[in-house]
Amino acid sequence: MNLLELLRGRFFKALEGWAPDPLTASALVKPATDAKFGDYQANAAMSLGKAMGKPPRQVAEEILAKLKWDDILEKPEIAGPGFINLKFRNEYLQGQLTVAANDDRIGIAGVSRPGRFVIDFSGPNVAKPMHVGHLRSTILGESLARLHRFLGHMVITDNHLGDWGTQFGILLYGYRNQLDAENLKKNPVAELARLYVEVRKGFKSGTDEEAEGDPVQDACRLETVKLHQGDKENLALWKQFMPFCLEEIDAVYQRLDVHFDHTLGESHYQPMLAKVVADLLGQGIARESQGAIGIFLTEEGTPALIRKRDGAYTYTTTDLATIDYRIREFNPTDILYVVDSRQHLHFQNLFETARRWGRTGPENGPRLVHVPFGSVLGADRKPIKTRDGKAVANLDQLLDEAVRLAGEIFDANRAEDAEPENRAMVAETVGIGAVKYADLCQNRTTDYVFSWEKMLAMDGNTAAYMQYAYARCQSILRKAGAGPDTLDTKASIHLATAEERNLAIQILRMEEILVASASELRPNILTGYLWDLAKSYSSFFQNCPVIKAPPTLLPSRLLLCHLVARCLKLGLELLGIKVIERM
Ligand code: ARG
Repeated sequence: MNLLELLRGRFFKALEGWAPDPLTASALVKPATDAKFGDYQANAAMSLGKAMGKPPRQVAEEILAKLKWDDILEKPEIAGPGFINLKFRNEYLQGQLTVAANDDRIGIAGVSRPGRFVIDFSGPNVAKPMHVGHLRSTILGESLARLHRFLGHMVITDNHLGDWGTQFGILLYGYRNQLDAENLKKNPVAELARLYVEVRKGFKSGTDEEAEGDPVQDACRLETVKLHQGDKENLALWKQFMPFCLEEIDAVYQRLDVHFDHTLGESHYQPMLAKVVADLLGQGIARESQGAIGIFLTEEGTPALIRKRDGAYTYTTTDLATIDYRIREFNPTDILYVVDSRQHLHFQNLFETARRWGRTGPENGPRLVHVPFGSVLGADRKPIKTRDGKAVANLDQLLDEAVRLAGEIFDANRAEDAEPENRAMVAETVGIGAVKYADLCQNRTTDYVFSWEKMLAMDGNTAAYMQYAYARCQSILRKAGAGPDTLDTKASIHLATAEERNLAIQILRMEEILVASASELRPNILTGYLWDLAKSYSSFFQNCPVIKAPPTLLPSRLLLCHLVARCLKLGLELLGIKVIERM
């Protein structure tokens, strides 16, 4: 049940035919800023009053005269300059809770017009160890995929691996000059990681992968060029290396419970690039300049290169081929790119080029959306880099550390019915959950400072807090003997206290939250909700005895606990985080 949409629909009907722009006006129904004003409030009367030249309070009266409210709401009140305060009737909430309790989606409907979303996320440059920088895209992308799927959209996830770039030149050079052949046989993944690090140590300090005039880097670049030109030996080595590179990243994905429908890396598009360039040249969208081929989107700005002077194709060329391929292959309504905000300009140019190329437009093709995010910062407020070599930079070690710290928390907070043999499982679930949640609960466009202390706090907006709240619900239900088969889901619900009523509203708000979180592409809307829900549960728990409740209230309170548990579990699941039955 989407309470907000229900109210907006009612307001739309009430405004239709006499008020200007009823759609915009009905969108001014919002959750109440303060519970003492009710559950929701309608703020349309002020702007309508202005537009219609009437006192807003009078407009509010006129709206109320037309609004159908009595089956779901208490009598609406007009407050201040013309706010309309809306409070649901308890009987209505009680009925909706019963529906939710007996529905396998907790009463949450799917969207009426499902889209087809291609979600491009993670996309690490393989052949170098995964580091903390890969975390955000991976975690955000997975969550957005889960959210959209749950709401009924068709979702196709695609990992656009950087599997064709300069880092392979580094490996090829390392293979030829610094190989430990024994180690390659015994532990190929580790040997490749070692080679990557060793070769880079030989770079002149402070230079990046593209720097020229450094003999080692020049040699590496030469290897990449040979690979791209189809050199047999390099290509054979690339094919030999790839499975080991994939093995390494797959282990991380498995641990993070992240899944892709497709892993079509940059290499997949190589056979298509020449045609893309020819096509763009032919259509006059690209042109030659000093031996290179570029797209000049503005007169004075730098062009987006699609073929360099040495004949090499670029990141942009590959991305153009990818758009073309995805449209042909998947026919999507939307393509989401969950990629670092520092690539803003790349995507802006890319989308504009795709438009000129006729692949997208207001009337045709998919909506192309860059879903940008900020950096993960160290305590020094600078982006955490691989080069620091600190434990926190390497993703696998980072996850190990999270799990180790979560194990300590388990020891310190263990409930009396927790099972010590579950320690490893609990530590893994809490540790990984903490890392994910810490990322998802941020406003994604801002940078955030990585902090173990914050992300593993037991009281706050953290995964551990939600996981404990869930386990606590389950523990109460167990103690009351209300298991999956014995809980009376048809029991009538009584919202006897303010805490119960507040909890009811929270439970029933979940659909509205999921819709907003998906359409705004912001999982932090969901985490904020889970936190509110968990806090409401906590005050319910403190003020309303459950197991010791009077017999008339016991079934109702158990059902509330059950619904809270289900909302927490679903919400965490959509964030890619698991729950634990006993902690
Ligand atoms: N490999 C790229 C990087 O590490 C990210 C790929 C994002 N996806 C895309 N279609 N460009 O920066």
